[in-house]
Amino acid sequence: MQNLTGKKALITGASRGIGRATALALAAEGVKLGLTATSKESLSGVEEELKKMKAEFYSAPADVSSEEEATQAVKQLEAELGAFDIVINNAGAAVRGKFMDLTAADWKKALDVNVMGIVHITKAALPGMIEKNKGDIINISSMSGLKGTEGSGAYSASKFAVLGLSESLMQEVRRNNIRVSALTPSLVETDLTRGDGERNPDKFMQPEDLAEYMVSQLKLEQRTFIKTAALWGTNPF
Ligand SMILES: NC(=O)c1ccc[n+]([C@@H]2O[C@H](COP(=O)([O-])OP(=O)(O)OC[C@H]3O[C@@H](n4cnc5c(N)ncnc54)[C@H](OP(=O)(O)O)[C@@H]3O)[C@@H](O)[C@H]2O)c1
Repeated sequence: MQNLTGKKALITGASRGIGRATALALAAEGVKLGLTATSKESLSGVEEELKKMKAEFYSAPADVSSEEEATQAVKQLEAELGAFDIVINNAGAAVRGKFMDLTAADWKKALDVNVMGIVHITKAALPGMIEKNKGDIINISSMSGLKGTEGSGAYSASKFAVLGLSESLMQEVRRNNIRVSALTPSLVETDLTRGDGERNPDKFMQPEDLAEYMVSQLKLEQRTFIKTAALWGTNPF
């Protein structure tokens, strides 16, 4: 088992939901954090929580769909922390609607945030990881990356793309001792999915569950990695 203490992790979409829970879980393991989300304001809540934990963290807001902003944020965070050991590409946008209702702008948003966001952040962080000859990149896809459902065309297409790019990058950088994996969770109770009334917390995954899983995965000896992990709630429907 690897000790995560002192490692440096970049987390996108760290302000809320799965990203926030992952930041708190990694901080509890003594990981130093570089955080991004769309704005300083949205990051302020998790920053307060991390301060209370006396965690070491830096944050740099960026719209991950912008290559310029994403690259700048990674550079800024690397200037504070040095090259990253762990990158969690978690930022994502839920773009939903039936095929004939989705506009070109909807499709562009889904692909720009959910796919190009990962590309921009990873391109900026990867050279430092290759130099270290070690590292972990976890990309958050979705069950929608395995299965299309009514009204999920743009979101689903973007999450299928995350699996393709993750597997391809995994084959390229495993020789550099960098593990690239993708997670395909089913429904997790966050802002992205709330709104359909109260859900039974014993049946639906919580962001903390996914965070706990990622911590366990990251602790696996470097010789072992999980290419794709599907996490499901217990019989929620
Ligand atoms: N919840 C689920 O059921 C579920 C299931 C499977 C997969 N996922 C995936 O898990 C990831 C996290 O989801 P979540 O449920 O935790 O979502 P969430 O609570 O809605 O949080 C989304 C996060 O992404 C950030 N973000 C959104 N657009 C961005 C952009 N253009 N640039 C930078 N950051 C951006 C948000 O920042 P701001 O706060 O600044 O807006 C926020 O931190 C997503 O990739 C999602 O597709 C979620």
